[in-house]
Amino acid sequence: MIGQRKILLSERDLPKKWYNIMHDLPKPVAPPLHPGTKQPAGPDDLKPIFPMGLIEQEVTTSEYIDIPEEVLDAYSLWRPTPLHRAYGLEKALGTPAKIYYKNESVSPAGSHKPNTAVAQAYYNRREGVKRLATETGAGQWGSALAFASSLFGIEVQVYMVRVSYDQKPYRKFLMQSWGADCVASPSNLTNTGRAALQANPDNPGSLGLAISEAVEDAAGRADTNYALGSVLNHVVIHQSIIGMESKQQLASINEYPDVVIGCAGGGSNFGGIAAPFVRDKISGKNVDVIAVEPSSCPTLTRGKFAYDFGDVAMMTPLLKMHTLGHGFMPPSIHAGGLRYHGMAPIVSAMMDQNLIRALAYHQNATFEAGILFAKTEGILPAPESTHAIKAAIDEALKAKQEGKSKVILFNLSGHGMFDLASYDKYLQKQLVDHEMPDSEIQKAIKELPVI
Ligand SMILES: Cc1ncc(COP(=O)(O)O)c(C=O)c1O
Repeated sequence: MIGQRKILLSERDLPKKWYNIMHDLPKPVAPPLHPGTKQPAGPDDLKPIFPMGLIEQEVTTSEYIDIPEEVLDAYSLWRPTPLHRAYGLEKALGTPAKIYYKNESVSPAGSHKPNTAVAQAYYNRREGVKRLATETGAGQWGSALAFASSLFGIEVQVYMVRVSYDQKPYRKFLMQSWGADCVASPSNLTNTGRAALQANPDNPGSLGLAISEAVEDAAGRADTNYALGSVLNHVVIHQSIIGMESKQQLASINEYPDVVIGCAGGGSNFGGIAAPFVRDKISGKNVDVIAVEPSSCPTLTRGKFAYDFGDVAMMTPLLKMHTLGHGFMPPSIHAGGLRYHGMAPIVSAMMDQNLIRALAYHQNATFEAGILFAKTEGILPAPESTHAIKAAIDEALKAKQEGKSKVILFNLSGHGMFDLASYDKYLQKQLVDHEMPDSEIQKAIKELPVI
């Protein structure tokens, strides 16, 4: 008989504070710059689109931040999430490694995104905001914010990247069920969207473009704020709950990971699971922390660490991050949530300070890993999460080759039940792996702002 499959925490054990890695990073995260003056952006620059509660978290270096009671109440709908031992996957690989995965797919929206969505909805509501505008790639963030805002009585306008809007119509229905309005981006609702459509009526959209539309919407209406599902410091801080619970769960069975893995689009789920372990690494612990991205959007592995805009229309503050250039249009791969030109400044700082490393995989290899995971562990993973699974499998096979019994922890950031059209394409051998020529990356990077 196999041993304990699920390592569970009780609701009483739900962490009451978020952890902020900015307290412990050897070198500080560079401040955001105003897009016009290129001087450090202060609270007044961010106030038109963010609530003060979140602006404070964006700049604080406090070690911990108390999680408000109403957010804890919302978290208790699905948190603490289970940590699973992947016995089925280990057996299929014949590896001596122990593989654990944190199951963030059990949230109402099916991913880690509600961890920050409920916090953002709470702080906006506390400051009287009636409406939020946001972008979404795969639809995971849009549905998470729609869910969270329904709890806190806020209206939501979602700009969904066209290619995902077409590939994943069911996410739109989910957002609508929670009361949000969802349009394809580029849309006719904003100047940025109209200009993009005029230049190319078949524009597949990108996260960078959808962000521009949502920021323009929020900046143009007094009753509306903007909400971002990744990248920013406060988002990574909210996601630290993933790593804090995981550490507690592993400690309860006297385990500590040799390897910690997460997929990285804007860096929030990776930053969230990684943060408490990176802190240990800073204090001398030997732990290998790996961010995994698509080869077709290789931000950490081939991008430049520089100040860049978070969006195509150059409206957001400049962030110091690994970037492929704000004008980079990633190919229409099926892990829509990983199609972003930039990376969270916190994750970029970890990379720059050699606290983590990064890997990139093509989508056919990750879908193959996702199918093996579904067959052995039962859960059909989100295409984004299959990147983490592929790296965990490779680490487990390396352990087998070396005859080492490693402990591998990865984050299952979401399930793929709304991504069945992508699995259909994979199973029908219709998925294309996009090689990204150096010339294309160099072209996009050339347009980086001069600071
Ligand atoms: C399931 C899932 N995992 C990962 C990501 C990537 O985002 P991040 O890098 O911010 O975690 C997304 C983004 O939409 C997602 O939906």
